[in-house]
Amino acid sequence: MKFQSFIAFLLELDIKKSILPAETLVNTENIHATKPFIQLMFKTIIEPFKIKMVESISMSTEEQRMKFLEDAHYNPFLLKSEQVIIDLLTDSGTSAMSSEQWAAMMNGDESYAGARSWERFEKAVHDLTGMPYILPTHQGRAAERILYGHLGGEGKHFISNTHFDTTRANIEYSGAVAHDIPIIEARDFSAHHPFKGNLDTIQLEHLIGNLGEKNIAGVILTVTNNSGGGQPVSMKNAKDVQAICKRHGILFILDSCRVAENSYFIHEREKGYKDKSFKEIAQEMFSLADATVMSAKKDGLVNMGGFLALRDKSLADACTQLLIITEGYTTYGGLSGRDMEAIAVGLKEVFEPDYLHYRIISTRYLGENIRHKGVPIIYPVGGHAVYIDAKGLYPHIHVHQYPGQALVCELYRIGGIRCVEIGSVMFGKYDEDGKLIPAPIELVRLAIPRRVYTQSHIDYVVEVFDEILQTKDAVKGLRITHEQHFLRHFTAHFERIE
Ligand code: F0G
Repeated sequence: MKFQSFIAFLLELDIKKSILPAETLVNTENIHATKPFIQLMFKTIIEPFKIKMVESISMSTEEQRMKFLEDAHYNPFLLKSEQVIIDLLTDSGTSAMSSEQWAAMMNGDESYAGARSWERFEKAVHDLTGMPYILPTHQGRAAERILYGHLGGEGKHFISNTHFDTTRANIEYSGAVAHDIPIIEARDFSAHHPFKGNLDTIQLEHLIGNLGEKNIAGVILTVTNNSGGGQPVSMKNAKDVQAICKRHGILFILDSCRVAENSYFIHEREKGYKDKSFKEIAQEMFSLADATVMSAKKDGLVNMGGFLALRDKSLADACTQLLIITEGYTTYGGLSGRDMEAIAVGLKEVFEPDYLHYRIISTRYLGENIRHKGVPIIYPVGGHAVYIDAKGLYPHIHVHQYPGQALVCELYRIGGIRCVEIGSVMFGKYDEDGKLIPAPIELVRLAIPRRVYTQSHIDYVVEVFDEILQTKDAVKGLRITHEQHFLRHFTAHFERIE
């Protein structure tokens, strides 16, 4: 396992200087003096874990993959996992659990009511969020369905830095409208801004004025901003959003599934946080919110699970009714006892400084390396994934022919790499005449599962991009031949446009 020269590489690129404006620039010497993680004597940053159990990867030839892709209707969601060499489809539910988590699972108490595992889970979630009412759900979208199903409905509006696809779908399914207002710098892929995930607070005030505060069911801050490039949100932005919500009596909701990764960036980039632990930073962010929805499949370091946490009793009572009807009884909801044990441990491990440092630096390593080759990416690199500007890479493919989906197919054909389009396939809509209204951006996401791949896997991905770049001018677009109304990217069928 070679996991070389992250720091040498980063120092070479002088990342800190290049991504941070002067006013937020953190003195590198200070970082070294007060860093919460241990810097070994050598430049190489190693994975802070040993591998105790392995899962085989099945190799395939390009010829086999072309057949697999055709059978999957050019939609990698329809591939079998054994047909994939490196799976970067999602960082959700794909983490490797630790021996501590597996050990805790053996202590799972599967009692219907009042299980010990519930007590441990509730304590861990309460300790982190500070919220009194905790509803366990089988994953994030179940918490979304309960909360947004209850708050939403015709005539209601939600406002976010960017709604994730399931968040938007749950809101729209209720009849409500979802508005995305990321800061303007988020639209410029190469703009240097330390917190490109921030919500535009000026637009927020305007929208509240236009829509009327009583029609706004909630403001959702997604940390990090997944659909906006995995970019972090600053504490200052969260505080500003909270102040506006408070003034207008609007519920402030944190979508916290990557809150630990977001805390790393605050520690790294925002003034006043370098002496705080990652967990303290997360706790401060939770203290601002009225409610939080968390998919534990991300920073909970588990394969399944989530929760909804609330401060208000009457809202909690209404949501609890829905929990019991659709997920399960209050002390397990959508989870078994062993799942709750694994989450309780995962929520602690994710804040371990050596883990979190390795996590962010290794994602950055992939992004910086492919950017160096000339692949256009959202910059600076976010926490859990590298986002490629597919339209920038394939300017000759019209948005109606899905440049992102074309890149997704090429990465699979050339390297057996599976990833996901975040563009007009995922977010495109049709107007009344059936004409596509494309998404504002055409991205492809390479999401890195937590604690799963080593540097040689990532070096392989980097190498595949040499071929992607060499062959890019010959790549053609795709057309959709079959689709569903909601979340069409999961099941759509495509054909190549020759
Ligand atoms: N919110 C955000 C920001 C997410 O990224 C996700 C899931 C959810 C909510 C829903 O959580 O999957 O547990 O129901 N994101 C995954 C992804 C699917 O690939 O980014 P879930």
